[in-house]
Amino acid sequence: PTALFAPRANSAGVDLADPLVREPLPESMAELSDFSGWTAAPTAEAAPAAAPRPVTCPHDRTIVVGHCRDARPDEVSTMIERALSAQPEWDARGGAARAELLAAVADAYEAHRDAFLSLCQREAGKTLTDAVLELREAVDFLRYYAAEARRLFTPEGEALPGPTGESNRLTLHGRGAFVAIAPWNFPLAIFTGLIAGPLAAGNTVLAKPAEQTPLIADLAVRLFREAGMPDGVVQLVPGDGTVGAMLTGDPRIAGVAFTGSTETARAINRSLASRDGPLAQFVAETGGQNAMIVDSSALPEQVTRDVVASAFQSAGQRCSALRVLYLQDDIADAMLEMIRGAFEALVIGDPEDLTTDVGPVIDAEAKAALDAHVAAMRAAGHTVWQRELPQGCDRGTFVAPAIIQIDSIRQLEREHFGPVLHVARFAAADLEQVIADINAVGYGLTLGIHTRIDNTRRLVQARAKVGNLYVNRNQIGAVVGSQPFGGEGLSGTGPKAGGPHYVARFATERVACIDT
Ligand code: NAD
Ligand code: ALA
Repeated sequence: PTALFAPRANSAGVDLADPLVREPLPESMAELSDFSGWTAAPTAEAAPAAAPRPVTCPHDRTIVVGHCRDARPDEVSTMIERALSAQPEWDARGGAARAELLAAVADAYEAHRDAFLSLCQREAGKTLTDAVLELREAVDFLRYYAAEARRLFTPEGEALPGPTGESNRLTLHGRGAFVAIAPWNFPLAIFTGLIAGPLAAGNTVLAKPAEQTPLIADLAVRLFREAGMPDGVVQLVPGDGTVGAMLTGDPRIAGVAFTGSTETARAINRSLASRDGPLAQFVAETGGQNAMIVDSSALPEQVTRDVVASAFQSAGQRCSALRVLYLQDDIADAMLEMIRGAFEALVIGDPEDLTTDVGPVIDAEAKAALDAHVAAMRAAGHTVWQRELPQGCDRGTFVAPAIIQIDSIRQLEREHFGPVLHVARFAAADLEQVIADINAVGYGLTLGIHTRIDNTRRLVQARAKVGNLYVNRNQIGAVVGSQPFGGEGLSGTGPKAGGPHYVARFATERVACIDT
């Protein structure tokens, strides 16, 4: 394999701008919105011992979306054993056969569009726009990693140079049983990508969704299995962090594909380092303290649109979301007025209402942490603009969106994962210091810059230690294959999801040198 790109197209998605597509959607989704008789459960379910727990709806906690029975230690162990038994045959199938099955899963996802969209709304609190993007990204991951399996995992591998009479060939192989641990904020797209990457490379996968979003994960894993993945190749292991820790602490595991907070990544790293067994591969995509720099040459309308989307779309619950906006001081007042105007116009409420811009946050714990942060900043004397929550929001876990004035990114000690934007000012002469401050925080996920000055753009591009840089646009919504996504430093280990180096990271390399 030599080219970095295998021929492939991204999903067409769902065109919500077309009324013929958009208008019938809520009705067809509503027909599928009753999941109350459904219980997500471990794939290798033993006799259920305890009553399943209810999974409730973020925008109305009185609605029980469905139930989940978390995996017990004996089930975890059985599933690891099955994953180990299934792996050699799955690996031996080769990239082309694995790709065929991954592509079949992508088709099955599209065929179950309305159930997935409905679950994204009911279980994860997503607006329809976000739900559509989520499904599209999941399908794109499946097709992209399928193409990667075909490109990288050929029986003949790659010929390497050597003297006459010597044949050198490099081939890639699965490592064993992988654990995929996912966050709730992309309960379908990231969950799917974390499974499909290791699978494409010839590993079997134990898939642990976030405890908040087991139902969408259960449907996803059922579709992997229905598409023809043999027993043991993909198994659902629902549960919270203790179940995750059982998996990562097991010496039979070959590696972990993780997306979530930096703190959890550190805990997993420690667990992998202290257990026996093979030296494990660890791929972690984690949090960010993402900034955007706007100078006085920027186009104000464009900045307003991009700031509001970057900070408040998905209720700010994207790892890529804008947290700290730096405005050049001579345009700061005018720019802030425009941004506040758009902020005041955001529609907050039920994500099942098509007009909603900002839905709920995922749970009471997230709400409490965000509310406490805003209160602490206010108490510390920062200027805070905050929206009132409309009526009805008290039934769910909503956070009133806020804009908080600060002096520097250095005043924030950690990521605040929700609809809270911090705004600082800078003098043109201090641009290099701003970049240094952003780098010094230690995260390195996304950075936005709005400028029409090429030298400024070049300076930022050269200095910023960041995985994904966005110039004169918003900084969310990386597209598989076009903007491979992932950060550096505290934001992750790499490689980038949806990029040409991802799948190979889950493989082991073998070289055969044959004297002919
Ligand atoms: P989290 O770290 O709390 O949980 C993530 C997953 O880890 C969950 O499945 C959880 O059950 C599991 N877990 C928790 N403790 C564990 C342990 N000790 N061992 C094994 N597994 C354990 O994160 P979250 O709240 O679900 O997600 C939000 C975070 O994810 C934010 O920090 C966000 O920035 C980050 N994120 C990053 C990316 C990226 O691509 N870089 C994408 C999405 C989200
Ligand atoms: N890939 C997601 C985005 O870019 C996290 O917003």
